[in-house]
Order: sequence, then C-alpha cells, then structure tokens
Amino acid sequence: MVPRFIRPICLRIWDFFVWKNVSGQRNSGTGTGKKEERKDDMKEKLEQLKAEALRQIEASDALEKLNEVRVGFLGKKGELTSVLKGMKDVAPEDRPKIGQLVNETREQIEKVLEEAIAKMEKAAREAQMKAEVIDVTLPAKKNEVGHRHPNTIAMEEVERIFIGMGYEVVEGPEIETDYYNFEALNIPADHPAKDEQDTFYISGDFLLRTQTSGTQVHEMEKGKLPIRMIAPGRVFRSDEVDATHSPSFHQIEGLVIDKHITLADLKGTLAEFARELFGEETKVKFRPHHFNFTEPSAEMDVSCFKCGGSGCRFCKGSGWIEILGCGMVHPNVLRMSKIDPEEYTGFAFGIGLERIALLKYEIDDMRLLYENDIRFLKQF
Ligand code: DAH
Repeated sequence: MVPRFIRPICLRIWDFFVWKNVSGQRNSGTGTGKKEERKDDMKEKLEQLKAEALRQIEASDALEKLNEVRVGFLGKKGELTSVLKGMKDVAPEDRPKIGQLVNETREQIEKVLEEAIAKMEKAAREAQMKAEVIDVTLPAKKNEVGHRHPNTIAMEEVERIFIGMGYEVVEGPEIETDYYNFEALNIPADHPAKDEQDTFYISGDFLLRTQTSGTQVHEMEKGKLPIRMIAPGRVFRSDEVDATHSPSFHQIEGLVIDKHITLADLKGTLAEFARELFGEETKVKFRPHHFNFTEPSAEMDVSCFKCGGSGCRFCKGSGWIEILGCGMVHPNVLRMSKIDPEEYTGFAFGIGLERIALLKYEIDDMRLLYENDIRFLKQF
C-alpha cells in the first residue's frame, strides 16, 4: 500500500509527464478555431466526468465500490487520464488552464472520495462495535472444572491412613516381566495360580501387570530394610466388562518387612485400617485363603457398615464384606529377593481400590466408575 501522503505527490508527477507529453505534441494540432472548441469541449467533459464520479460515489454502498470509482476515474487507465490525452488538441496557451482544471477536478473527486471512504469506515466500525457489545448483565459462562474421581478420593483416603501409620507410598511399572508379576512371587511357570489371572501378554516375557504385588519385589530388591510401603496402581486382566469386572482396575499393595514381624502385626494393622476407613465400630474377620506369595494367607472381611452385621442387601445377608487379601510373606519370596527369612519376616496385603470406592460410596455398578459422567462424579 502506498502511504496516503505519497499519493498526491505521485499524481502530480504523473500529471507532469502527461503534460510534458502533451506539450511535446504542441505543434501537431489542428486549426486554432478548432482548438478553442476543444478547450470548451474538455471543460464540459471534465464537468460531466466530475458529476458522474460524484454520482457514483454517492451511490456506492461498499468500500470496494468506492475503490472501483477511484480506479475508474483517477487510475492510470481511468477517465481523467483519457481526458488528458485529448490535451494535444487544445491550443497551447489554454493548456495550463485545462491542466489546472484537470488537477482541480481530480482534487475534488479525491476529496469527496476520501470523505466517503472515511464515512463508510466509521459506519463499519460503529456497526462492529454495536455487534460486539458485551451485555454485562448476562450470566457468566461456567468453567467446568470437573470433579475428583471416587477412585482418587478412596485412594487418597487409604494413603492417608497408611501414611499416618508410617508407611511410604511407592509406585511400580504397569508393564512387567513374567519374573516380577509371577516368578518372584512364588508362582512358577505352569503353576495353576497363573490361570486365575487372564493376562495381557505384550511379547514373550513382557505383560501388563495383573496385580500390584510385583512392586513388593521391586522394593525388596532395593536392599533397604526395614520396609513399610504401600503401592497403589493400575492393573490389567483379560476380563469381560460387567457390574463387578473391568479389564483395567486398581489395587493398593502393602508390604511390611522387619525383624520379628508376626501375624499379630498383620491383624492389628489391618483392623486399624478397617476402623479408620469404615468407622470405629468396624469388626474384622480373617478367612484362610491361598496366595502363592504368602503363607499363611487370608482374606479379610469387615462387618457390614450398612447394617452393622445383622445382614442386609449390601452384605448379601451375611453381615460381612470381603475387602482384601493378605498373609505372611512366603520365605521363598524373601529368599528370591535376597532377604534372609531366618532374620526377617513380613506381611503383605492387596486391596481392590474400586471395591473400596464402590462400598464406601454405595455404587452398585463398577462401569459407572469408568464413564466419567460429570453428573455421576459430582455426587462424591
Ligand atoms: N495380588 C493379589 C490379587 O491380585 C492380592 C493380594 C493378596 C496381594 C494377598 C497381597 C497379598 O500382597 O498378600 O488377587
């Protein structure tokens, strides 16, 4: 774009050359009488031209149209230029006058054009401002910030309880080798216990962990004793989705290794955990079970926090609700992780996080936890 103030200068230079060109042809004109006529003709033509330009400016309803007028009248190939070309037919003594007239006409058209442009631009600006006006009385747009997931709330609650008992929170990898997920947990190849966990194998030796128990091995291998840790995390099993199953869910693993740890420590710790999580009145019950990596092993039930143990829909009439698996760490497991079972003993436990969340918030379908529907999540 040529800056505005340069335009008139350019036009003057243009006029000068056209004028020079015309003067050069000074002697090639026809008779003087004719030239006199030409002068009047040109005057009239300029008048008409100006009138037409002003009419078109007046009729323009868009900036593009005004631009067309500018090009059509004032441009290099415009009307005014073609009038100038007729200058050769004007008597030399009249030429300055006509030249001046041409310039005046140009200036007048230009002035009106500039004014029309400014007016139109102002109107456009005003229309835009009107359109963009902000109604401060309208209610503000709500920022959806989401809500903490029941799993997260339950996990933080479990973490809070164990941190309060001096436990450290650690994490393990979601992709494990067969060794950490099975072998080092005393589940050798071909052991039927492997069949209970339909596993997603990635390639030969690598798999998506089916349990967080592998974190026990990672922790023990660090060689720092004693250990008092919990390890929350995601686990994967090739399960069909239903109200109580999902191919991906969460567990919280627990491990304590120290000298003189006994089953009494396990019971005391987990009973205290249950009371903190479900209320002071909560009773616990240990049922013998089998896990390869603990001996003895148990499943822990809590007295139903809904009916207090008398039996209801929630506990399916039994008065008890199963919440975790646990046991004393198997000597084989300790040995494989280079810990002497004669010197150190320990207990371990595994809690299903979704199970805790479903129980605590009385949600009866696990699928709701994975839909991330804000209307559902907002309730907790
Ligand atoms: N890993 C077990 C499971 O996925 C849960 C479990 C049971 C973990 C007993 C433990 C434990 O650490 O001692 O079913």
